[in-house]
Amino acid sequence: MRDDIHRILIPGEMIADRVRQLAAEITRDHTPPRVSGEAEVTIVPILTGALVFTADLIRAIPLPIKINLMTVSSYPGQSVRSQGVSVLSEQLRDVKGRHVVLVDDILDSGQTLATVKPLVAKLGAASVKTCVLLKKQLATKAAIDADYVGFEIPDEFVVGYGLDFNSVYRNLPDIVVLKPHVFAP
Ligand code: IMP
Ligand code: MG
Repeated sequence: MRDDIHRILIPGEMIADRVRQLAAEITRDHTPPRVSGEAEVTIVPILTGALVFTADLIRAIPLPIKINLMTVSSYPGQSVRSQGVSVLSEQLRDVKGRHVVLVDDILDSGQTLATVKPLVAKLGAASVKTCVLLKKQLATKAAIDADYVGFEIPDEFVVGYGLDFNSVYRNLPDIVVLKPHVFAP
């Protein structure tokens, strides 16, 4: 796996610092009086990419949060919109009346968050915020922006810290760019 890495874009230690800052921002924004005392917080990681990020993020948020897992296929395109909405609502049992923070690994076209965010709102969430570890610079043209962004990165394909290529490399501790031979073996 190490032989496939072209360069490290964001080292794990830098990610750890930034994740703690994001957690502090989320905590501040979800502590009364910024939110009403009754409505509590549900973190919704969009799996599988947000798995590693969310695991670190939630351990730095000292609030009584709940976690509601949901899955969206990596490149949703039309399929999620045509057949996914009922599947998605079923997965979102725990959002009614709560302050929801949607967590994803990366904001690219914005398609994923633009699909899920209105759905969570429609299911009766008290508020919906979005948090991504990475945002591609091209994403200024994206369908939606995120409320919390870890790092803005160039428009390059990256893996590690939850992000995959062909379902591999999610367990790398750094965000890296792969060598070309990986894509054209
Ligand atoms: P969006 O819906 O276009 O914003 O795409 C977001 C999803 O596409 C992410 O959750 C990732 O699963 C995938 N994705 C986009 N860019 C990359 C990348 O550079 N590496 C790995 N996955 C990516
Ligand atoms: Mg993903």
